[in-house]
Amino acid sequence: MDNNAELLNCAQNIYIGKCRKLNLSRMEFLKRPLKAHVRTFGCQMNAHDSEKMESVLKSMGYELSEDAARADLVLMNTCCVRENAENRVFGNLGKLNFLKKDNPDMIVVICGCMMQQDAVVEKIKKSYRHVDVIFGTYNLNRFPQLLLTRMETGKQVIDIWKEAESTEEEPCDISLRHFRFKASVNIMYGCDNFCSYCIVPYVRGRERSRPHGEILAEVAMLAQDGVKEVMLLGQNVNSYGGGIKGELTFAGLLDRICGVSGIERIRFMTSHPKDLSDELISTMKAQPKICKHLHLPVQSGSSRILKAMNRKYTKESYQSLVDNIKKQIPDISLTTDFIVGFPGETEEDFQDTCEIVKYARFSGAFTFLYSKRIGTPAASMEGQVPEEEANERLQRLLKLTNAVIYEENSKLVGRTLRVMPEEVSAKDPSLLTGRADNNALVHFRSSESLIGSFTDVLIEECKTFYLMGSKKD
Ligand code: SAH
Ligand code: SF4
Ligand code: F3S
Repeated sequence: MDNNAELLNCAQNIYIGKCRKLNLSRMEFLKRPLKAHVRTFGCQMNAHDSEKMESVLKSMGYELSEDAARADLVLMNTCCVRENAENRVFGNLGKLNFLKKDNPDMIVVICGCMMQQDAVVEKIKKSYRHVDVIFGTYNLNRFPQLLLTRMETGKQVIDIWKEAESTEEEPCDISLRHFRFKASVNIMYGCDNFCSYCIVPYVRGRERSRPHGEILAEVAMLAQDGVKEVMLLGQNVNSYGGGIKGELTFAGLLDRICGVSGIERIRFMTSHPKDLSDELISTMKAQPKICKHLHLPVQSGSSRILKAMNRKYTKESYQSLVDNIKKQIPDISLTTDFIVGFPGETEEDFQDTCEIVKYARFSGAFTFLYSKRIGTPAASMEGQVPEEEANERLQRLLKLTNAVIYEENSKLVGRTLRVMPEEVSAKDPSLLTGRADNNALVHFRSSESLIGSFTDVLIEECKTFYLMGSKKD
């Protein structure tokens, strides 16, 4: 971390201290703890940003709570990748307005990707005046300062930046982990790919890789703190290091992380198919710590649609990439994302998508209805597919993917997988839930004491999206 960033963190620590002081006297007055509720929408990047803000809130003296209704501070970290994510945020804002009538001292903070759109901020300013603090994706680290301003002035605080400023976006690198044994680590921010349907490059800015030294230091610190599994995050991890002279490639970075003692498993997402290198495949093959799982979003199986999406690969090149990966790493598990109903998609294009499912034999998939995002090129493309038609295709695709996922996961029955149990199953407290190296979700009967340690589990039954097994002695 450079000196500027350190200085800045010191400054934010001062604001954290001031908020804490105000909170302590308020708690003394109220004779009860102050509670904060954090709600996250969107991807793992957002979830990780929320962990950082949760850590800040705890340092300010708040207790974290699941109960928004009784919270003294509610923070919503938003997503705008699809319209329904935005609608849910507005729905929640409406509910908070209602809650705030009963609890006028409640502080409402809203941040994240949605706030990078001018129209959204205007709408909140006009119709959701009960929101106290608004900031975006580039100045997350200023959260303590902005909250203090609100506490001191009682006025609405809005601070939206149009782009990132150097290394400042790392707040204090301390995040509140919900699991002691696993953690997420940002290796890069932003995206340069401009897929024609996608809003992310507009709200997260240009691609910026963190220097590998900073990443390795963070991973080493986490390992010392008991973390065994890291998830490396980026919109396109395969282009890590691009634009920085002499920086490691993504495969090089993985190699170095494998050398951090205490780290036993490395996962990453997301891999853009256009940048997946042979070097990455051979590194994955050679390094047992790297999980044999690739999330490789295909979006569509039609080369014509892929071109319109600006994905920069074709059906054929995706298929040969899959062939190559499976040849080198036969045990690999592939998962993917699909968008159904992209403008101009015909039944024939959709059939190509179905073919890719059968060809690549995914063991997991997220299927999305295309959602028009204002400001992206696809929003003004001709041939917008009627919702009913797109929905009907989505149902067919779900049926097909689920059948393939079932077949693929059934192949694991009878095998012994190395699982790290993460928690007690929410449905059955006698079961532990964890993930195998290949990302398969496994439930098995065991005691809580095993949570966070690697265990061999014999897989006995496939339930499509998860597996049932028993612990081997
Ligand atoms: N960077 C990742 C994806 C991030 S967004 C990648 O390129 O693989 C996660 C997923 O949301 C995408 O893979 C895509 O399937 C979906 N998505 C993005 N924009 C969308 C839109 N406008 N409508 C529907 N789904 C969308
Ligand atoms: Fe969006 Fe494409 Fe970037 Fe992924 S690679 S975040 S889909 S623009
Ligand atoms: Fe959503 Fe922002 Fe992630 S738009 S998907 S939260 S990068």
